[in-house]
Amino acid sequence: MAFTYFFRDRQTLEVIRDFALPKLRSRRYIHIWDAGCAMGPEPYSLAITLCENMGSMLFRNLRIHATDVDESNQFQEIIREGKYRYDQIKSVPKHVFERYFETNGDEGNVRIKKEIRDSVVFTRHDLLSLEPVRKNLSLIMCKNVLLHFQPEQRIEVIKMFHHSLHDEGYFVTEQTQQLPQEVEHLFEPVVSHVKLYKKKAHC
Ligand SMILES: C[S@@+](CC[C@H](N)C(=O)[O-])C[C@H]1O[C@@H](n2cnc3c(N)ncnc32)[C@H](O)[C@@H]1O
Repeated sequence: MAFTYFFRDRQTLEVIRDFALPKLRSRRYIHIWDAGCAMGPEPYSLAITLCENMGSMLFRNLRIHATDVDESNQFQEIIREGKYRYDQIKSVPKHVFERYFETNGDEGNVRIKKEIRDSVVFTRHDLLSLEPVRKNLSLIMCKNVLLHFQPEQRIEVIKMFHHSLHDEGYFVTEQTQQLPQEVEHLFEPVVSHVKLYKKKAHC
């Protein structure tokens, strides 16, 4: 099972907060897809970052569609419960821990508060089906997943991402992932230090 932990890539979260969120917050509903979310620390870290920087009204209208092929068949339960071990939250800043986690006397585990749990919905999904989880998405996050695919599969998945974003939508991937030449024309880079791209609409 893929081991991930909270706030694993704080720089990417900060770039989403500073460059994508200001543009997205004018929308009434914000739908985000975290594709290849593993057991949940990544979508929950994103949800916490957005909650910290959105009004509570807008946050209630945010959904993070967290998906994974989930070969272990355990992610749904783990994500729904929102319970994690202490070693998975070691990078969580103290004020964030105090605000968004509860201990409930459960030794060795902490639980994410309901306010955050309610913003993340998990579905089992295989990216290679090339079926988007929904259309009109504001942001797609797909990190440390595309590298497992064949070059041709990677191209088709990125085309599917482009198609499922609304015209002002964003795509973010890991820093070491280069956009294949075949799909470069579909996106424009937003910053140089994180692979955050804005959709080019008329392609
Ligand atoms: C290294 S983990 C990355 C987790 C998280 N995105 C992160 O960066 O912390 C890769 C994840 O991709 C998922 N994955 C692999 N192939 C997939 C596919 N075809 N469709 C959906 N998810 C897939 C795996 O199950 C695993 O949870």
